Amino acid sequence: MPTNLTNQLLDWYAQNGRELPWRVKGGAHFDPYAVWISEIMLQQTTVATVTDYFIRWMKKFPDVKILAKADLQEVLLAWQGLGYYTRARKIHECAHVLTEKYKGEIPVNREELLKLPGIGPYTASSICCFAFNQPETVVDGNVMRVIARLRGITKEITAPEIYPLAQELTSETHGADYASAIMDLGATVCTPTNPKCAICPWIKSCIAYKKRIQEQIPQIKKLAKKEKFGQLYLIQNKDGAYLIRKRSAKGLLAGLWEFPWEEIPALSKEKLPRVVHVFTHFKLTLELIRAPKKANDFPDGIWVNPCNFNQYPFPTLMQKVIKKL
Ligand code: ADE
Repeated sequence: MPTNLTNQLLDWYAQNGRELPWRVKGGAHFDPYAVWISEIMLQQTTVATVTDYFIRWMKKFPDVKILAKADLQEVLLAWQGLGYYTRARKIHECAHVLTEKYKGEIPVNREELLKLPGIGPYTASSICCFAFNQPETVVDGNVMRVIARLRGITKEITAPEIYPLAQELTSETHGADYASAIMDLGATVCTPTNPKCAICPWIKSCIAYKKRIQEQIPQIKKLAKKEKFGQLYLIQNKDGAYLIRKRSAKGLLAGLWEFPWEEIPALSKEKLPRVVHVFTHFKLTLELIRAPKKANDFPDGIWVNPCNFNQYPFPTLMQKVIKKL
């Protein structure tokens, strides 16, 4: 049941909420497609990074049907640099399903949304509230921090534990604004460090503030990442083209392009140039080796001149390599 806190936050949002390119303040967004795309982009990526990608995407693929007609390669190129490329492949797959089975429209209810490729419980809820103004509760990292501090929860928390506490504050009538408001409060006021409690609409009710333990909450356990190593081969022909290859359609960075590389148990003792990239579950360090004789070892490779690299979707890891060339 929404409380005073809900209204205090909605009032704060009306004055202080961020203007974001995928947001319409004061109710549901007029374009559920824009909400869907932005929510997928925002899943593992910051607002600052997503902003330009989202604007470019909406110009290139302004609706579901245009997206469904586009080539996967084009879609991956538009996603290049955002990481977690499965998201882009699922968006493309989903655009086909929406075009074929739903006349290109985004379904209005959660159960139907959950049947679609790449749409899980979080995205289904966020589409329902941002696109259709339904009283859905959305719990992301910002919301977890805000609620844990408000209620003074000092133990380690998980999203399912926070969910009922977030749900009791969700607005019945202003689902879209409320979800935006609590995210904004977390992003701009109730920040991980140096929270601006003096300007918080919930200061009078916040247990963490009362006890002056804001920055100790929430408790998040950080797991050390597994380390992996590899050797990457820079194979150049006499015209200056490099050998690159497409990764298989399944697994890590599926369908993206790369310089050939292979995993090794440990880095060599030589001081070779390196690139480091942190994935969700491991950290990868690649040594870069100029190896012209290796071309025959990679029959799936093609020769591409660096001036044409922009036609191939490379993951961020490989863009780091390109920067070093
Ligand atoms: N993170 C996830 N969804 C968001 C949204 N709609 N606005 C800002 N940050 C978000």
